[in-house]
Amino acid sequence: MRDKYYVTTPIYYVNDAPHIGHAYTTLACDVLARFKRLDGFDVKFVTGTDEHGQKIENSASVAGISPEQFTDKVSQNFRDLADFMGFSYDDFIRTTEQRHFRACQAFWERLKVNGHLYLGKYSGWYAIRDEAFYSETELQIRADGKRIAPSGAEVEWIEEPSYFFDLSVWQEKLLEFYEDNPNFILPKSRRNEVLSFVKGGLQDLSVSRTTFSWGIPISDNQEHIMYVWLDALTNYLTAIGFADPSRDFEEFWPANIHVVGKDILRFHAVYWPAFLMAAKLPLPKRVYAHGWWTNQGQKISKSLGNIIDPFELVKKYGLDQVRYFLLREVPFGNDGDFSHSAMISRANGELANDYGNLVQRVLSMIYKNCEEKIPIPNVFSAEDSEILDMTYMTLEHLRGKIEVQEFSQGLESIWVLIRKANAYVDAQAPWALKKADPMRMDTVLYVLAEVIRNVALLSQPFMPTASEKILNQLTIKQDNRTFLSFGKNSALKEGHQLLKPDAIFPRLYDDTILSE
Ligand code: MSP
Repeated sequence: MRDKYYVTTPIYYVNDAPHIGHAYTTLACDVLARFKRLDGFDVKFVTGTDEHGQKIENSASVAGISPEQFTDKVSQNFRDLADFMGFSYDDFIRTTEQRHFRACQAFWERLKVNGHLYLGKYSGWYAIRDEAFYSETELQIRADGKRIAPSGAEVEWIEEPSYFFDLSVWQEKLLEFYEDNPNFILPKSRRNEVLSFVKGGLQDLSVSRTTFSWGIPISDNQEHIMYVWLDALTNYLTAIGFADPSRDFEEFWPANIHVVGKDILRFHAVYWPAFLMAAKLPLPKRVYAHGWWTNQGQKISKSLGNIIDPFELVKKYGLDQVRYFLLREVPFGNDGDFSHSAMISRANGELANDYGNLVQRVLSMIYKNCEEKIPIPNVFSAEDSEILDMTYMTLEHLRGKIEVQEFSQGLESIWVLIRKANAYVDAQAPWALKKADPMRMDTVLYVLAEVIRNVALLSQPFMPTASEKILNQLTIKQDNRTFLSFGKNSALKEGHQLLKPDAIFPRLYDDTILSE
């Protein structure tokens, strides 16, 4: 049986229009999922929408429609984004689905039977925007006298009957778990933040609400609906059939990785593991908290009107270009600033010049000079062997980086090879060998075509469309495009047919530069 790999995105609040931040989280998961599939894993990649809670109920009421109508309409925007970005998700979960109600109620039942829920009364601060409770000490008072959460969200005072989860008893167990699993939370800097939060002491968590009704009812006390974060986190179980007769749950749980933004790390790295321990379920292997994108230094927000629309971006620059840029520009755990000039400079420099030109000039030379077929290599020189050896080691480098979600460095390991191949073309000057030493020209072009084949296999998870184009030009069969076909054993054979080469990455022009 193939090894399983279960990767999840956060489920998105449907009240927002999908923007670059949402696309970013799912893109990272898509690259992981594609990489693992190519590497022989049986992958489950799940994304979806978070549709309950006060925030959504309020948005529906502002829109003048029922929450059901509202969520049906806006959930589709996120599905459209996922399809438009070429995300290879296996399941799209909506928290308003029946399968999710069943899973949440079954999960609640386990927490109750195991003695971790009790009925009480909550009085304290709540931020609807974050759907989170805050203690007085976490808040700041703004100039207008309003209390503000660390996230910048306004809070309101609420008092209502509530079920509580006994989070406070899990402090030591959580600390032990982090200690025993040093890579559970990545990157390390975020792990330290979580550790100090937990060391500071945990209070029991209110996990039900009674003052509105848009949520999942508690089976034996219908006055209450589940706290939206307990509901939302449980989606990770629902999607693999937690409450349904299915073998998927045993096979895919625990998840290999939950990818989240830094703003929602506490829910995933503290509350979620505590809930799971209380339910006596295994814990996910990793929670990775990525950074946030800003727009020319400013926080991205609807009210500032500076949202970066992924649909627009892709129309302007191309899908693979955007996918490449987002994962290349900024190390995954760090915050990053979006700018059009940086986008254009990467697309022109690294895609059009480095990668695109390499492929185009080599394949065109072969097509024109070698009767449209891979030429017969002669004896390999030291330079030939050096670049081939380097090529064959690149999968191992990339795999190491993917294992710890270092996408930018993973791309760099591919680019080290691409740059080396361009330097090799310049040094060997195959065009000059055509008359002087045609056998040597054949060998050089053979080596380059083999380098390109392997590079294209490796670039598939990041840039599926361009990689496919290159592999098509090389007429590599579909079955020979996984990482099993990476390396020497599947090296190109002489006489292998090529298709007419076509440009892979067009050069982008910067309107602002042109108009200056
Ligand atoms: N519904 C919750 C998640 C529940 S998961 C059980 C939620 N939804 S969200 O729509 O507000 O955010 C989803 C993701 O988008 C988060 O990982 C968040 O970090 C990410 N981003 C939102 N804006 C972002 C940027 N400007 N930059 C990068 N990612 C950001 O939270």
